[in-house]
Amino acid sequence: MSTLRSVVKGVGGYLPKRVVTNDDLAQLIDTSDEWIAARTGIRERRIVADDELTSTMGVAAARAALGNAGLEAKDIDLIILATSTPDQTFPATAVTIQAELGINHGAAFDIQAVCSGFVFALATADNYLKGGQFKRALVVGSEAFSRILDWQDRSTCVLFGDGAGAVVVEAQKLNGAMSDRGILAACLRSDGRYRDKLYVDGGPSSTGTVGHVRMDGPEVFRHAVTKISEVIGDTLDQAGYQASDIDWFVPHQANKRILDGAARKLGLDPERIVITVDKHANTSAASIPLALNAACADGRIKQGDLVLLEAMGGGFTWGALLIRW
Ligand code: COA
Repeated sequence: MSTLRSVVKGVGGYLPKRVVTNDDLAQLIDTSDEWIAARTGIRERRIVADDELTSTMGVAAARAALGNAGLEAKDIDLIILATSTPDQTFPATAVTIQAELGINHGAAFDIQAVCSGFVFALATADNYLKGGQFKRALVVGSEAFSRILDWQDRSTCVLFGDGAGAVVVEAQKLNGAMSDRGILAACLRSDGRYRDKLYVDGGPSSTGTVGHVRMDGPEVFRHAVTKISEVIGDTLDQAGYQASDIDWFVPHQANKRILDGAARKLGLDPERIVITVDKHANTSAASIPLALNAACADGRIKQGDLVLLEAMGGGFTWGALLIRW
């Protein structure tokens, strides 16, 4: 029996040129490389230039993903951008990316699930492709988080960075076997009771301002490992796989201690975890496609590999996706 599957055709990334190390931050606020590295695994992050926007980075990552897929912009009929730092309140930054790429057919919209945004966006694209409504989707995660940080708040500003990543996914008629390429399973979760644990203290309908990131770090940490492990378990069950079957675990890059904790709980081989948090810090919705890009570019992820994506973020939102690459 043939079925439509969303197959990853290409991946791309973009990082701003400016590198800011932990030592650089220690010149500005009361912190140290030792504290940041020991608690989070972060050593440095990239920060956008004054003339760069979320859309600028998103377009660069999208172009790289199209090039990697051997496709042209006109081949894309769906653009979904995951971001919490849009260029404007509206229109969706996805339409700026669409216009910059010269696409004027199909649809483009933003998804807001903070650090889980890329997983939510890819799962959404998968449903449209499997439903036959669109043929090829560009799924982008792009964030200029440095623009919403309170640079006086050492408990948050050391954790985040800027960047963008993108994947191209294509609907293909396949047999429906788990050995076929494509997205095999997805689980998305939210629980708004925790919305005040990680949030921005501004918005169009409340303060009329953009606001800054606020976080109860220990509380986020407390929930992260349990929620991540549960949703990964549900996703693997859906596809009939076990943690030991996974070739590459590509998690949202928030904190190395959270990633190690989840991997330990699930019995995942630490050698199979793709880590970029040391170089990129937490780039929110951009972190997974940036990590995918790094692991594809250096030849770790190969066609046919079983790849597990996972994220958790403000809301709380969390989710996982299993892909036969
Ligand atoms: N540099 C130095 N000291 C710092 C600091 C910094 N950048 N930020 C906070 N501190 C201090 C605190 O003021 C506190 O000092 P005190 O004991 O004198 O009051 C001390 O370090 C411990 O603070 P606490 O917040 O309890 O630290 P922690 O061990 O929980 O680590 C996080 C803080 C943020 C690293 C940790 O809670 C975490 O990783 N949480 C998850 C965050 C996350 O991943 N968010 C994104 C999810 S998408």
